[in-house]
Amino acid sequence: MAGGARFIDRSGTAAPGLDLWPALLIPRADIDAEIARLADLPQPSNGRRSSLIVHPRAAEPGLGLAPGIRVSLDVLRPGEQTAPIRHNSTAVNFCIHGRGYTVVAGQRFDVARYDVWNTPAMATYWHVNDGDALQVRLTYSNAALLEKMNVHVVDDRPPEAGAPRPPMEADDTTRRNPFGTFKLTEAGAYLMPYEQLINPETVESKPLHWPWALVKQHLDKLEALGKSYVGRRLYLLFNPATGRTNGTTQNFFATMTVRPPGIVDHPHRHTSAAINYYFAGSGYSIVEGRRYDWKAGDLMLSAPGWGVHNHASNDAAVYELTVQDSPLNIAMESLLWQEDVNQPFAVLGSQEGFSTNRA
Ligand SMILES: [Fe+2]
Repeated sequence: MAGGARFIDRSGTAAPGLDLWPALLIPRADIDAEIARLADLPQPSNGRRSSLIVHPRAAEPGLGLAPGIRVSLDVLRPGEQTAPIRHNSTAVNFCIHGRGYTVVAGQRFDVARYDVWNTPAMATYWHVNDGDALQVRLTYSNAALLEKMNVHVVDDRPPEAGAPRPPMEADDTTRRNPFGTFKLTEAGAYLMPYEQLINPETVESKPLHWPWALVKQHLDKLEALGKSYVGRRLYLLFNPATGRTNGTTQNFFATMTVRPPGIVDHPHRHTSAAINYYFAGSGYSIVEGRRYDWKAGDLMLSAPGWGVHNHASNDAAVYELTVQDSPLNIAMESLLWQEDVNQPFAVLGSQEGFSTNRA
């Protein structure tokens, strides 16, 4: 049985410094071997051939590749499908091999290699491989964080179409606080009654699909920005439900980047953690002073939160998918971003951010 609370005296003590997880490269050969191992297992009863890709510093509960980002490697043999499931974690799904389709909240997305799609919270989904090759997905979810918070709710006997909206109750004025929400002080402190507290404004959370064939057409136009352009040649796979936090889910953004040959980024840092999957070309990253060489098919924890890093391409164009827990950090007002390590940082989302040299 748990005892009472402890008092831990911190009087006069300095805050502890950051103890960043080191960057980590998961080479293609290791991923391929795990794919082959998963494919050779007898089919599990829930259909999910799945391994977490876990950082050596991760500890239960909430095993992740970054402290707040769980990454799994998911395999389906031709003809297989997963059992329906839903949970309050949200996910970015990324097909890295094969094809198939996913049904999510009653909608079907036919997916091909390098397509990205999201699964909203409590939306029932299942994956199907109707192709003739192995289907392999990387799934990035905030389950790591929710498990740490002891609130990851998983329902493996979900209703088919996911979370139908409950009917709105008829408005009963006797159940409403007559004073509403009102300004308490001139400076802008307010009071809000219970009815509004338990019925916040809603934003519809839709499953969305970013087919690589379409995204690539737009991405390749960014290659035309000359060598002098200092920004990143990327598009955020933007889900408008995330509004001002610029996300793909409420927790993560996913960006598709093209790096022409011989591009070296300026060192920078941000409190969001970044995970890159490279799927064309090769290059290297310097993270906290250490060099990591990577190539197509490698996965990498490429930026632990607040670690200084930069990336560079070798002699061929690089394509990469980057997932960062930046929207969560914007919502928490914790997204410090330092675009140039010799210049001050900004709190993105509540202070003016940065610009590139593009007119
Ligand atoms: Fe970065």
